[in-house]
Amino acid sequence: MKFFLDTGSVDEIRKAAETGILDGVTTNPSLVAQTGNRDFNGLIREIAEIVNGPVSAEVTATDTEGMVRQAMELREIHQHVVVKIPLLREGIAAVSRVAPQGVKVNVTLCFSATQALLAAKAGAAYISPFVGRLDDISHVGMDLIREIRSIYDNYGFTTEILTASVRHPIHVLEAALAGSDVATMPYKVFEALFKHPLTDIGNEKFLADWKKLHG
Ligand code: E4P
Repeated sequence: MKFFLDTGSVDEIRKAAETGILDGVTTNPSLVAQTGNRDFNGLIREIAEIVNGPVSAEVTATDTEGMVRQAMELREIHQHVVVKIPLLREGIAAVSRVAPQGVKVNVTLCFSATQALLAAKAGAAYISPFVGRLDDISHVGMDLIREIRSIYDNYGFTTEILTASVRHPIHVLEAALAGSDVATMPYKVFEALFKHPLTDIGNEKFLADWKKLHG
C-alpha cells in the first residue's frame, strides 16, 4: 500500500520524505489555508519537487467549465500534479472531459460506493473515500473501502482507492487489510506508525548489554 502525506506543510513533507517511504502528497483548500501561503501554485511546485510521486492539488471552481479550466492549469505546474476534483455532478462531468486528455484526477469527498462507481466510470485515477468523517457520524468508514474494493475488482476498474480522512494508525491497518491502494494521512499518524514501546525497550536493552561487554 502506498503512503501519502495529507498536508500542506513543506516541513512535514521534507521530514516524511527523509524516510524514503513517502509515495505522494494530498492537499485540500483547508490544508493550504492552514499554511497561510497565498501562492498556491508556488506551494504545489515546491511540494512536487520534494516528493517523487503524485501531489494532489484541488480545484476551487464550482461549475464544470471552471473545473476543466483549472484542471488544465494545475497540471501545468509540475508533472507530479494530480488534479483533485470534488464528487459533485459538475465534478464528474469535468473528470469525463479531462481524463481522456491524460489529466490524472483524484476524485475527492467520496462518501458512498455508488459515488465511487461514478468516479471510476468517468476515468478517475484515484477515488478518495473519507473514512474518518464517516466514523464521526457513526457510520463504519472502513466498510466503504471494502465495498469499493469489491466493486472495482468486479469490473476491473483501475482507479486506485485512496483512503482519506485517516485519523489514527488503526485506520492505516484496516485500509491495508481491506486492499486499499493508498492511504493518505496527517504527519502525526505517519510518525505514529513507527512507534512501538517494545521496540524501544528491546533496543535499549540490546545497547545496554553491548555497552556492558565493550565498556
Ligand atoms: C483527502 O485528500 C483529504 O485532504 C483529507 O484526508 C481530509 O481529512 P479530514 O477529514 O481529516 O479533514
